[in-house]
Amino acid sequence: DADERTERIEAALEELGDDVVVLGHNYQRREIVEHADFVGDSYQLSKEAANADAEYVIFGGVTFMAESADIITDDDQTVILPSMEASCPMAGMAEALQVDSAWAEITDAAPDADIVPITYMNSYADLKAFCASQGGLVCTSSNAHKAFEYAFDKGDKVLFLPDKHLGENTAHRLGMEDEIVEWDPWDPEGKDAAEVAQRDIILWDGYCQVHERFREEHIDQIREDHPEANVVVHPECRREVVEAADVVGSTSTICETVANADSGETWAIGTEIHLTNHLQRWHPEVEVLPLCGEACMDCNAMRQIDPNYLTWVLEELVAGRERNVIEVAPEEKELAEVALDRMLEI
Ligand code: 13P
Ligand code: SF4
Repeated sequence: DADERTERIEAALEELGDDVVVLGHNYQRREIVEHADFVGDSYQLSKEAANADAEYVIFGGVTFMAESADIITDDDQTVILPSMEASCPMAGMAEALQVDSAWAEITDAAPDADIVPITYMNSYADLKAFCASQGGLVCTSSNAHKAFEYAFDKGDKVLFLPDKHLGENTAHRLGMEDEIVEWDPWDPEGKDAAEVAQRDIILWDGYCQVHERFREEHIDQIREDHPEANVVVHPECRREVVEAADVVGSTSTICETVANADSGETWAIGTEIHLTNHLQRWHPEVEVLPLCGEACMDCNAMRQIDPNYLTWVLEELVAGRERNVIEVAPEEKELAEVALDRMLEI
């Protein structure tokens, strides 16, 4: 049962002591964040992983986050993901092989253009490596605007991968919305590379299936039912949702917004439901509401990190066995690190 499991997790953590650090993304289940040494957004967690001295980094999050942790930690540190099924569908929407062939098309169509690829953190290491090889970089939801500025400083066009909504919201933030074009190179009825290459901001056709489900109607409904409510949403939401919200930002911005709210204020949260539930628990003085019903706003990838798996990987470590190790291939690691370092520099 849950109590026995908690005891087993605590016993294993005690046994392992300073050898392990547990990181938990804001979208993880309560049982995971309660056992985490650090809870945060994907950018904060990558910095915590980089600063960690522990031999083992247990990552409560999804594969691309654990890969990033493996890239930036030392070679003698080992990153463990409690479930190998925890893969973000958005990261899978831009596979390096596909991007490579689309890149050939677009650079052929615009031979004189200097295109800089930017990939959102939510992507696999091989795509990060590809971006570095073409002079590009990684960004997160909290620094995408800075990555665009960096790219336009170096080149004249941006290929933004994989999240079209974050790309569109960032272009609006920079007043460059007229330069946007969406591109799905495999859509037979879609735009061809020559058409796409006429614009300066080319958005890959990827999206988060959790955040895309938020609609403007959800905000209208909240404002009707709770006229006093403020609305904060993640920038992976559609443009019209971001426009209708009061605040937009990464999961850490969402956390800070509620933490800084006055007692008695009402905040509706447009992001994954586990974070909304944590915020309700962490800030009982604030009225925290989900922007839309619980059922549809659950990230299935994050949910794969079941506390039973956390117990298993920890107990296996106590027994001297490393399970579910995430290891990026050395040739990708070096280049992907360049793309991450460029982000850390901006
Ligand atoms: P943050 O970087 O804001 O934590 O977001 C990660 C994510 O997967 C959002 O869906
Ligand atoms: Fe991926 Fe969306 Fe889940 Fe974040 S919430 S991990 S972007 S599927």
